[in-house]
Formats: sequence, structure tokens, C-alpha cells
Amino acid sequence: MIAFDPLSSEERVRIVDLHPKIGDLRAEAVDGLRRSEKALPCKYFYDALGARLFEAITELPEYYPTRTEIGIMSRAVHEMAESIGPHATLVEFGSGVGLKTQKLLDALIEPSGCVLIDISKAALEASASQLADRYEDMEVIAVCADYTQPLRLPRPHRPSSRTIAFFPGSTLGNFAHDEAVSFLERVADLVGQGGGLLVGIDRKKDPKVIEAAYNDSLGVTAAFNLNILRRLNESGADFDLSTFRHHAPYVESEGRIEMRLVSEVDQSIRIGDAEVALSAGEHILTEYSHKYDLQQFEDMVRAAGFRLTRQWSDENDWFSVCFLEVEDAPA
Ligand code: AVI
Repeated sequence: MIAFDPLSSEERVRIVDLHPKIGDLRAEAVDGLRRSEKALPCKYFYDALGARLFEAITELPEYYPTRTEIGIMSRAVHEMAESIGPHATLVEFGSGVGLKTQKLLDALIEPSGCVLIDISKAALEASASQLADRYEDMEVIAVCADYTQPLRLPRPHRPSSRTIAFFPGSTLGNFAHDEAVSFLERVADLVGQGGGLLVGIDRKKDPKVIEAAYNDSLGVTAAFNLNILRRLNESGADFDLSTFRHHAPYVESEGRIEMRLVSEVDQSIRIGDAEVALSAGEHILTEYSHKYDLQQFEDMVRAAGFRLTRQWSDENDWFSVCFLEVEDAPA
């Protein structure tokens, strides 16, 4: 049993700034729109309006992932905490300390610390102090960094039994397959031997259920998708949003939703000094959202150095929260 000394106020919250490179929206957009299948990076969905639209999506009757995952967490969080064990350090990607993280922290047995990693320093500072207020006996380390790039975690002051990353929401599915494997490899490296990852994944199911979740009847997902063009217009582009239609088919052969914006007319778009031509019917790909079957997921995590040791699902097997542990290095 580890006996913890009380933390001093400097030890309770620490901000570590690794000075991440902030992407250049306009340059990345031009680059993506010059590909043979035109594409925009989905990370640009989330300005203030995009984040609010995403919040609204999570409350739509058709969008099952959020409420299904919260249901799984509510039922099984104590089993998750038991699998993780006492005195763990929890690592959260993104600064939003949401309901799922709070559920997990509330259930964990004497967690020694929590590390938040996010590219936005302001968002991190706010979340870190909120977290420190709520969990008075836990060290909070906020790391300002781009978690899609390799990074080293700062060492916590307190001894910790193991490091466990938490990546809920099925956000892993938004990476292309190769990117997902590289991300998992980096997480395995970050948490090290004895470490683990608790990750939410959306499962394969009737395509009609999946397509309804990304083509909702209120048009909130359409607004969320089109918002990326509105953002680009703020950075010197001249998209006419009324000439684009949201379309999000489930591509069965790839096991994923593809969020698309279809141009309804032949047109030419200006983005700063660059010019991009779109023909009627041509689309811009804005996001993948992969759906997994458990066997395929197990193979994918093994390729990245993890072992799937436990998983919890809802009664329809629509969503799973999976506990992955770093595969022991060969002796
Ligand atoms: C954030 N991510 C897991 C969501 C998803 O379901 O892939 C983003 C989203 N895109 C459209 N609706 C929700």
C-alpha cells in the first residue's frame, strides 16, 4: 500500500508547456483541396460554434454513441476501476474533463494523479483548476502539447502504480486506419510497460442505424459539417455554403461513415491566393468515423503493442469500452 504525503499547493496543479505547433488552417485546407479526393482535416470542426454543435449532436435521438457509452460507464465503471487497480495515474487526451472522466475518477481507487494533454493552453488551465478543486487529494498535470505527435509525460511527484490513458467517445474511429495504429503505438509508448488504455469504440451494426446517426432529421450534423466551410471563410475563403449539401454514407467495404460536403454546382473557390475548382456532384471529405468489430479491433491493437484484456458493451453490442494493456516485452 502506498501512503501518500499531502500535496503542497505547487504540487497540486502543474502546467507544462511543450509549445506545440499550431496548424495553419488555410495552408492545410489548400493542401487537402488539391488532392484527387478533396479533403479537409476534421480537427477544424471544433471552433467555439463547432464544439457547441457537437454537444447538440450528442443529444440527438439518432446519435446513439454518447448515451450508449455513458450507459456502459455507469454500469461498469467499478469493474473498470478494479481492472486498473489502485494508485494509477490517469492520462486524458483533450482538456474537456467530461462526465465520463469524472465517473472514472470517482470510481478509481486513490488515483495518484491525472494528466491532461491538449493543444489549447487556455482550455487546459481552466480544466486543470476545475479538476484540482474537485479532487483535492490528486495531483493534476496539464501538458500543453499536440497529442497526435510523439511526447514524453512529465513525472508526477507522487509514486504511481501504473499509467492509464483514457480515450472515450470513439474518437479513435476518426483516424484513418494507419493513423489509428500509429496513435495507439504512441499511447503504448507513453504509458509504458504495465500501462494501459481505456478506449471507447463504436461497433459495426445495421448500416441504417449508423447512417441515421450522421444524417439526423434536425440537420444538426449537416450544420456541424458545413461549419468547417464557414470557418474557412473567416480565414480568407469564399465558399457559398448554400451550394454544398451534407451527405454521410456508411461505406460498408471500409466499415466507416464518410462525412462529405457535395458541391451542387460547377464552381471555383478562392482561398487566400489559391483557387480550387469543384464540379457539380464532386465532394469534399471532411471526416471518417470507423466502426469496428471486436476481432478486427483486437488485431489492430495487437499490431500497436497492446493486448485487449477486457471489454464492456451495451445489451445491443452497439458500443464497447475496451481495456488494453501494454504487451509484455519478450524476455
Ligand atoms: C468525435 N467523434 C467521435 C464523432 C463521431 O461520431 O465520429 C464526430 C461526429 N461527426 C459527426 N457526428 C459526430
